[in-house]
Amino acid sequence: MPTVPTAPALTLSAARPHPLAVEAFFDDRTGTVSYVLSDPATRQAAIVDPVLDFDLKSGRTTTTQADRLLAHLDAHRLSLQWILETHAHADHLSAAHHLQGRAGGRIAIGEHIREVQATFRKLYNLEREFLPDGRQFDHLFQDGETFFIGEIEACALHVPGHTPADMAYRIADAVWVGDTLFMPDVGTARADFPGGDAATLFRSIRRLLALPGDTRLFVCHDYPPAGRAPAWETTVADQRARNIHVHDGVSEVDFVALRQGRDAHLDVPTLILPSIQVNIRAGQLPPPECDGVSYLKIPLNVLAAGPDAATGAPPLPNGSASSDGPAATDD
Ligand SMILES: [Fe+2]
Repeated sequence: MPTVPTAPALTLSAARPHPLAVEAFFDDRTGTVSYVLSDPATRQAAIVDPVLDFDLKSGRTTTTQADRLLAHLDAHRLSLQWILETHAHADHLSAAHHLQGRAGGRIAIGEHIREVQATFRKLYNLEREFLPDGRQFDHLFQDGETFFIGEIEACALHVPGHTPADMAYRIADAVWVGDTLFMPDVGTARADFPGGDAATLFRSIRRLLALPGDTRLFVCHDYPPAGRAPAWETTVADQRARNIHVHDGVSEVDFVALRQGRDAHLDVPTLILPSIQVNIRAGQLPPPECDGVSYLKIPLNVLAAGPDAATGAPPLPNGSASSDGPAATDD
C-alpha cells in the first residue's frame, strides 16, 4: 500500500502578495473541470487538467475545450507557465501537449506517474521506445515540493489512493484536489484502478481535510445529482460536515467497506483504454506509423467487462470493474 504522509504539508508562506485568479471550465461530456489559475500581478498562469475532446466512434480528436482555455489566456493576456495534471485520467484524453504547442508552459505531474506508466506499458504492450521514467513530462513533483505561479506560492501534495500517482495542488488559499474528493453530495473517487487502494485514499483525504476549515477546495469532476447544476468549489469545513462518504465520524474501516462495495458495481470507464495510453505520454498521441497516422491500441480480453456487460470476465488488473461518464462514475 502506498504511504501517505500523516501531516498536511503546510509549507506556504504567510505572505500572499496577490489574490489568485481562478476560472473554471466544465466539460459536460466527461464531467471534468479544467482551470486557468493566474497571478494578476505578473500575468503568469497555470492550467489544471485540460481536456482534449475525443469522439470514440470516429476516432477524431478536436480542441473545443482546449480552445476555451486558450481564448481565456488570450483575453487576459496571460502567459502559460505550467500545465498541471493531477493524475493520468481514465475518463478523458489530456490536452496538455496540444496546449503546450500553442501556448508553451511546462507539463507537470507527480513523480509516481512512473508506476502508472510501468503498469500500462505492460498492459498495452507499448513500443520499446516508451520508457516508464516520466521523461514524457517536463517536471515530476515530489510530495511537499513548492513552486510558483508568477509570485504566488504553491505546493504539490501526493494524495494516492485513486491511483498511485495522484497529486493535489495547494495554491494560495485553495487546493485543487484532483480525484480524491468530489462535491459533498457526490462523495469520493473510486479506488479500484491498478495501484489504487481505498484505505490509502481515505488517508489522503483526511490529510486534505486536516487543512484549515476555510480552505477552498476545487474538484476535478462533478456528476451532479438530478436537479443540481454542475459545481466544483467547496471547502474543507463543508466536506467535513457533509461529504456523503467521508464526513467527520466516518472511520477508515467504514470508508473502505463503502468504497469497495461501490467500486464493485461501477462500470468500466468508456474512455479508459484510449485515455490512459495518451495521458501517460503527457497528452501526446502515440508515434505515427509508417503511413503518418497515429493509432490507439485496444488490448483484447485483458480488462474486465463491467457489471453492465453481464460477463463472467475477471476484474480490472487491480481487482474490480469500474465506471465513467457524467451519469454514474467515480472517476
Ligand atoms: Fe481519475
